[in-house]
Amino acid sequence: MSTHHDNLPATAEPAEDRFTNPGFPPHTPRRSDVDERAARRASVQVVTLFTISALASIAFLVAYYAIDPELKGSIIGIGEVNLFHVVLGLTMGLSLLGIGLGAVHWAKTLMPDEESVEERHTMASAQEDRDAVGRQLSHGWRSTHLNRRSALLGSAGGALGLFALPLVVPVLAGLGPRPRGELYTTNWEAGKRLMIDPSGAPIRAADVTQGSVFHVMPDGFVGAAAHELDPQDMMTSKAKDQVILVKLDPAKIKSQKQRDWGYDGIVAYSKVCTHVGCPVALYEQQTHHLLCPCHQSTFDMTDDCKVIFGPAKRPLPQLPITVDDEGYIVAVDGFREPIGPSFWERKRPGILMEDEG
Ligand code: FES
Repeated sequence: MSTHHDNLPATAEPAEDRFTNPGFPPHTPRRSDVDERAARRASVQVVTLFTISALASIAFLVAYYAIDPELKGSIIGIGEVNLFHVVLGLTMGLSLLGIGLGAVHWAKTLMPDEESVEERHTMASAQEDRDAVGRQLSHGWRSTHLNRRSALLGSAGGALGLFALPLVVPVLAGLGPRPRGELYTTNWEAGKRLMIDPSGAPIRAADVTQGSVFHVMPDGFVGAAAHELDPQDMMTSKAKDQVILVKLDPAKIKSQKQRDWGYDGIVAYSKVCTHVGCPVALYEQQTHHLLCPCHQSTFDMTDDCKVIFGPAKRPLPQLPITVDDEGYIVAVDGFREPIGPSFWERKRPGILMEDEG
């Protein structure tokens, strides 16, 4: 059987001999390397450039204190300018230019330019040293008797493992009580009016024109009524009850469920971003996109607030709405799924998930 290696010429010589290190090209001395007068001239030029830089810095300081910042002057081709700024700009520019040119000229004419190589020595220790270390380590391990006394090893491991508990448990306990059912519920419930945030005014469906946007909260949790609340309850409500209400052209609504849960094109969605919970509050009227300002997740309002861009993975939950006897917009029910970011036990039995249809 032949392989493609059979066609290759035999290479008897060791790998390191197959390629010749071309090395560096021969060093070409510069004029200043061979001519003492040229070197002196170059050093004078460098000193001159640095001196110009130093003088420009001093001029900058003098100008800073000496020129009236209001003083105007005229420069041909530019017109009327503020002299203070022009002189400061020029002097600082000259100062930086002098340093830059001086350093480059110094490096190119006077600093050594010969390239040199320092070979890297072998990093590994001698074989006998490595053997000696191996012998020492295995002798140390045997002398601990841990290899024969598993009880010792087990109890030491247990003690060290449990030692972490006094450190970890207080930290975990300090996180406070588990939220339990609170992550599944909001203050929205059947018949609750949607009130404008922050005024607390109810919204009559007949008054909502196409393209209108309202930021709303449940009745009793916004406006004057909110002042009666316990501050903790008020903060919790602010965090999870916030809803955005928009009136869309009913013909543009793509999903039947979205239409059914809305009222005459008016739809309401949780404002709590399903990524990490920022308020999604930027509504683009032309595209009907809702934008989260934190990481730019974008939701399509005409398509049941599905994610069309960004790190969020789930649509915003919709709040089913209708109108009451007086024509005001009310919730049909609470949210039918947990709002906001994901959490481990989100898919609890009995909870209908929007993204499960
Ligand atoms: S919190 Fe909305 S995109 Fe991250």
